[in-house]
Amino acid sequence: MRCLVTGGAGFIGSHVTLGLVEAGHEVVVIDNLLTGHEMALPPNVKLERVDLNNAKETDRVLSQGPWDVVLHFAALSSVADSIKHPTHYLRANIITSLNLIRSCIRYNVKNFVFSSTASIFGGENFSSIIPATAPIRPSSPYGESKFYIEQVLKWADRVYNMRYACLRYFNAAGADIEGRLGEDHQPETHLIPLAIDALLGLRPPLKLYGNNYPTHDGTCIRDYVHVTDLADAHIRVIEKLKYGSVTYNLGSGKGFSNLEIIREIERISGKKLPWSWAEPRPGDSAFLVADSRAFQSECGWQPRNGDIGVIIESALNWRKNNPYGYKTGHR
Ligand SMILES: NC(=O)c1ccc[n+]([C@@H]2O[C@H](COP(=O)([O-])OP(=O)(O)OC[C@H]3O[C@@H](n4cnc5c(N)ncnc54)[C@H](O)[C@@H]3O)[C@@H](O)[C@H]2O)c1
Repeated sequence: MRCLVTGGAGFIGSHVTLGLVEAGHEVVVIDNLLTGHEMALPPNVKLERVDLNNAKETDRVLSQGPWDVVLHFAALSSVADSIKHPTHYLRANIITSLNLIRSCIRYNVKNFVFSSTASIFGGENFSSIIPATAPIRPSSPYGESKFYIEQVLKWADRVYNMRYACLRYFNAAGADIEGRLGEDHQPETHLIPLAIDALLGLRPPLKLYGNNYPTHDGTCIRDYVHVTDLADAHIRVIEKLKYGSVTYNLGSGKGFSNLEIIREIERISGKKLPWSWAEPRPGDSAFLVADSRAFQSECGWQPRNGDIGVIIESALNWRKNNPYGYKTGHR
């Protein structure tokens, strides 16, 4: 296949790009390198350093088709940041996606895979695993922007027959098991890399936001899925698009509280992790765990690195070997 990947230099996009290349596909990446890293791209992948806000440049890249599939990862993706800067976030995620989708329609792209998120469910108080049919109530402009694009895709299919897969990931984590890729966000907002950096002395002690959530230990519960298993999920869902558009929740189906993650990191590393309590953050939900059974049975997907120990160990190994991320002297 000829695949166009937006945000392919980012954390999830780079793991998917590697998976596609290893499966023998040709990949071109659109990325403005805002949070991504050129070094995360395999050597035979062409990088189009384009900002999706630029409709003309986006169109130019799409005109280099035909494309068998477009996978759209590029976005701003911090829940907390989106609450501080709602119009900036809505504008950034919606305009870029609209530019891309419009160009896809113009150049007759028939298959589109979209990175959606568990944050579209953020405003509900769930206590059990969340299926794709659960009520949608985003508790942040970030979640709202993703749900808006899901609706745009529905209309692109109805009117222009562009099939889409909306994959609503829960928490992507871990790193390529062979250590070739990892997570290097600036700024970092995700628990596991922040905790690992605190453990390795690369950042100040970890802050745990909130200890009074309605969970067994008072801290938020999240579902962590290994980023390479996510990559595999993308490759599988492209096959599924032959039969029509799909929307799936995607996670491991297992929830871990923030305190449990800290304990697991301490167990794996054999070291004490420095941390302290902080005020809860607006927009954080108590419990977000995916019901991925539909995806598993319909796409034949099984997380191969689903064990939380494997997820943490791969992230820890990558960070130990790349303490400054992709760039030396990065911090
Ligand atoms: N990381 C998670 O746990 C998680 C969970 C749910 C959903 N998602 C979604 O998955 C996608 C990928 O997440 P990630 O963690 O890999 O993020 P990331 O920040 O590592 O990657 C995003 C990539 O998009 C690029 N980009 C951003 N704005 C752009 C623009 N205007 N034009 C061109 N390129 C642009 C960045 O440079 C970066 O390479 C995002 O859409 C995110 O919302 C992530």
